Amino acid sequence: MLRNLRINYRSWMNVPIRGIKMPAIISKLMKKDKGGGGEKGSPGKPPPFESDKCVSIFRYDPEECEPPYIQQYEIDTKESGHVVLDILLYIKNEIDPTLTFRRSCREGICGSCAMNINGKNGLACIKSAPPGDLIIYPLPHLYVVKDLVTDLTNFYRQYKEIQPWLQRKDEKEFCEGTRQLKQSIRDRDKIEGMYECVLCACCSTSCPAYWWHGNQDDRFLGPAALLHAYRWIIDSRDEFHCQRLEKLKSMWNLYRCHTIFNCTTACPKHLNPGKLISKLKLMACDKLIKEIPDVEQDNELYDADETARKTAAAGPPKPKEKKK
Ligand code: SF4
Ligand code: SF4
Ligand code: FES
Repeated sequence: MLRNLRINYRSWMNVPIRGIKMPAIISKLMKKDKGGGGEKGSPGKPPPFESDKCVSIFRYDPEECEPPYIQQYEIDTKESGHVVLDILLYIKNEIDPTLTFRRSCREGICGSCAMNINGKNGLACIKSAPPGDLIIYPLPHLYVVKDLVTDLTNFYRQYKEIQPWLQRKDEKEFCEGTRQLKQSIRDRDKIEGMYECVLCACCSTSCPAYWWHGNQDDRFLGPAALLHAYRWIIDSRDEFHCQRLEKLKSMWNLYRCHTIFNCTTACPKHLNPGKLISKLKLMACDKLIKEIPDVEQDNELYDADETARKTAAAGPPKPKEKKK
């Protein structure tokens, strides 16, 4: 039995291709046609279906003791829609219920539908199928659980490694929720382009350095985890930036990034992890220093009711002016 299958670009080329599957309704009609039945008054006529796209999908089921293969499906995008996730749902509902993939929000905010579409990592729910045929693989260089579902355990472990939560010297009081931490608008703007990350793993799995070193303990954490490391280091409310930075300084971590920017090209949320890793490198050699926060924290206790009253009195926030 094949277990722990991990695919890379070279092994993709050797995956055998299997014949074309059609929507269940069409194959039923075709069977009827063979027996002289079919649509009313049209014996022997081809079914009223015109396929305009061939979708090739990587299939692998560890329970079946079979090597992976590519399954092809013929679909009509007038029926299925043009968004890749809609096409997959159409195939699952109408043609092949055994097809397995992850999805949840359907609007690019949960990050669960990440896969490799026509050679580029992306989120299936916000990507339109390009003209021509469609080839869908799981995210590269991860273990495949089944079909398009990959094992993200290592990716989440690496995220946990950077301790993605606010850390303060007076953490006990802060954790009890009795004190509000203030932040100026300028300081808040510093985490723009980082907090939007949906942890889809498109960036890390397109990074060559991550392919070679990402699967080994305490080596390269990958662009997604490093983007979040920078997000907490630069946050004006976090007081553990020196300790965080110190942990990243090993030669196997920050410096495995060779600034190739595959990560930036792959990110479906248009973030720039490659640039932020460069900033971390500058910080690690003291060329870039974290600024002192604009707002000093006081010891005032947090009153949720009072804050709600003040927010209601202030009215809705004004829209931001666009930067020129
Ligand atoms: S810039 Fe760094 S993290 Fe991004 S793809 Fe290149 S090596 Fe990987
Ligand atoms: S940086 Fe972009 S590609 Fe990477 S995990 Fe976050 S959203 Fe996904
Ligand atoms: S389904 Fe949530 S990001 Fe695609």
